[in-house]
Amino acid sequence: MALIEARRVSKHYRLGGQEIKAVDELDLSIDRAEFLAVMGPSGSGKTTLLNLLGCLASPDKGSLKIDGEETAALSKAMRTKIRREKVGFIFQEFNLIPILNAVENVELPLKYQGATKDERRRRANIALERVGLSERAKHKPSQMSGGEQQRVAIARALAAEPAIVLADEPTGELDTENTSKLLELLKDLNRDFGQTFVIVTHDPAVSGFTNRVVRLRDGKVESDSA
Ligand SMILES: Nc1ncnc2c1ncn2[C@@H]1O[C@H](COP(=O)(O)OP(=O)(O)OP(=O)(O)O)[C@@H](O)[C@H]1O
Ligand SMILES: [Mg+2]
Repeated sequence: MALIEARRVSKHYRLGGQEIKAVDELDLSIDRAEFLAVMGPSGSGKTTLLNLLGCLASPDKGSLKIDGEETAALSKAMRTKIRREKVGFIFQEFNLIPILNAVENVELPLKYQGATKDERRRRANIALERVGLSERAKHKPSQMSGGEQQRVAIARALAAEPAIVLADEPTGELDTENTSKLLELLKDLNRDFGQTFVIVTHDPAVSGFTNRVVRLRDGKVESDSA
C-alpha cells in the first residue's frame, strides 16, 4: 500500500470571478521511504500540493489517502491530528520562533504529541545532534547563521519522527555548500530512518539528488520519472 495516494485531487480557488485551478485532478502515488522532488514553473501548484499532502488544506474534489486513511472528508480537527502524528514540515523561511532557543524550537511539535517535559527535551537534543547542532542548543535564531537556522528547522520537523517530511524550497536561502550539506543530511535520514521526503524545489542540484522527480504544470503531473 502506498503511503500517499492522491486520485483526481483538485484544489481550486475562486478570486474576483476568476477560477484558479491550483491543483487539478492530480494523480500521484508515493511509497514509504521515497525521496522525491516536485518541480514546475511558478504557479504550477507545488505549494498547494504540499499543503494538501500535509493536511494543511483539504481537497475540493478527489481522494487523498495517507497511510490508508481517506483525508478528503475529514474534519479540520482530524486533519490536524494526522498532521501532528505523521507529517513534518520544513518551510523556506524556517518559521522558527524568535524568542525561543534552538532546543525549545525543536521541542514545540512534541508538545502536541503529549510527551512529558523530560521526554521532549531528550528527543529534541537527539534531533539537534542528528543535524550537528548540539553546541547551538541555547542559541536563539538571531544568534545563528542561515544554514544553522535551517538545520534547527529540520531538527524540529524530525523530532516527532514523522512518517512524511514535506519541504518547500528548503535550499532557497542556502549557498551551494550548505545546499549539498543539507541534501546529504536529508538523504542520510531517509536511508537510516526510512522517512518519506517530498521536496519542492527549483534547484537542479536538488532534483539531481533525488530518486524521483515529479513535474507539475497547471496543477497536474506533467511528468514523473518513477
Ligand atoms: N489562497 C489562494 N487564493 C487564490 N489563489 C491562490 C491561493 N494560493 C495559491 N493560489 C494560486 O494557485 C496557483 C498555484 O499556487 P502555488 O502556490 O501552489 O504555486 P507554486 O507552484 O508553489 O509556485 P511558486 O514556485 O511560485 O512557489 C497560483 O496561480 C496561485 O496564484
Ligand atoms: Mg510555492
